Amino acid sequence: MEKNNVLVVGGGGREHAIVYALHKSPKVGKIYCLPGNAGIAQIAECHGDIKATDLDKIVAFVEQHSDIALTVVAPDDPLALGLVDRLEQAGHRAFGPRANAAIIEASKVFSKNLMHKYGIPTARYETFSDYEKAAAYLKTCPIPTVIKADGLALGKGVIIANTREEAEAGLKEIMLDHAFGAAGKEVVVEEFLTGFEVSVLAFTDGKTLLPMASSQDHKRALDGDKGLNTGGMGTFSPQDKYTPAMAKNAMEKIFLPTIRALEKEGRRFQGVLYFGLMVSDSGDIKVLEYNARFGDPETQVILPRLKTDLYDVFNACIDGTLDKIVLEWDERAAVCVVAASGGYPLKYEKGKKITFGKLDDDVIVFHAGTAVCPECGEIVTNGGRVLGVTALGSDLSQAKKKAYDNIARISFDGMFYRKDICKTH
Ligand code: AMP
Ligand code: GLY
Repeated sequence: MEKNNVLVVGGGGREHAIVYALHKSPKVGKIYCLPGNAGIAQIAECHGDIKATDLDKIVAFVEQHSDIALTVVAPDDPLALGLVDRLEQAGHRAFGPRANAAIIEASKVFSKNLMHKYGIPTARYETFSDYEKAAAYLKTCPIPTVIKADGLALGKGVIIANTREEAEAGLKEIMLDHAFGAAGKEVVVEEFLTGFEVSVLAFTDGKTLLPMASSQDHKRALDGDKGLNTGGMGTFSPQDKYTPAMAKNAMEKIFLPTIRALEKEGRRFQGVLYFGLMVSDSGDIKVLEYNARFGDPETQVILPRLKTDLYDVFNACIDGTLDKIVLEWDERAAVCVVAASGGYPLKYEKGKKITFGKLDDDVIVFHAGTAVCPECGEIVTNGGRVLGVTALGSDLSQAKKKAYDNIARISFDGMFYRKDICKTH
């Protein structure tokens, strides 16, 4: 069988999960990764000096490597900056939305206005670019309320205010202290929703949309959903409260209307569209957020369950032939627990040696912030989220037990992880 070489852009746990799935494909030959990490380097050729946001260098890399058949752009920043557009203009195949569609994640004002215009259910909201007007609104709006910086903020630009004082302080942080830089020039203030959360990631070629297995992320740093928002501290799949009837409803009321709305706006979306949903006690489903890419660490529980060849799915999204693909899933459940550096998501140290212990053969350790120490050749920490331990099991409780048994055998100075991932099982 002909082998195709692939480049994956990014260097976190999500990219490790993508590389892991591509590596299983009989159609994929060599995999390159920019910048990659120590775990990815075990199955791909990494170039740690090329960052995912270095568009010029990435395009030059693809130009220099004529063997690359496909580039997969995984993180939000290069998508929003137009890496897919740049590669396409230079005549290369790339998986991921163009910048004009990636805006559905890159601007919350854009996505809220899109949902409003096309009647897609979401929390009631107001948008502000003027601090005084936003502050005046916060004096009268219902509490709790949710304040979101418009732009990309590593998943951290959302403040849930339980009192008016917290709302005022949060608004100041975003709009006056510029805690999230230019991302906070505009804000969305929205209704606080209750219920359970579910992440549904979907492949789409712009016409056909295929939802992946459902999952749920745990975004806060500490047990009991305490502490600051992070990029995600652990996930499980499936989210078993999300019933087939809810999935059907979401398809009709949210997923298909979203890709049709984007198409109507001249922003056809090809890639992975991520729906962050809240399901109320009465079963109403509303969109909390869109992402224009695979979630991290959702991908670490989803792709290990995908039986269909990921390389074929990527190509079908690009070629507009997704209607020919049927996604097949491993029936087993998956749980991923993330090990983070002490202090994350604020200040933390790097360069701590990681000891892996003897792990079960079928457990997958997805690396995120790891590197090989140039002096000692050992694997050391190199980021806030260091690695994610994914285990599969006959049900969520078996998967959870295995993930926790194994993460306990891994250690590094300052390591912490949440003890309550998937706690209902
Ligand atoms: P986002 O980045 O918009 O998904 O927000 C991050 C997290 O904040 C979500 O996963 C929810 O846990 C929470 N969140 C966001 N918007 C709302 C809302 N309107 N009501 C309640 N919780 C929310
Ligand atoms: N885990 C949430 C995200 O990737 O945005």
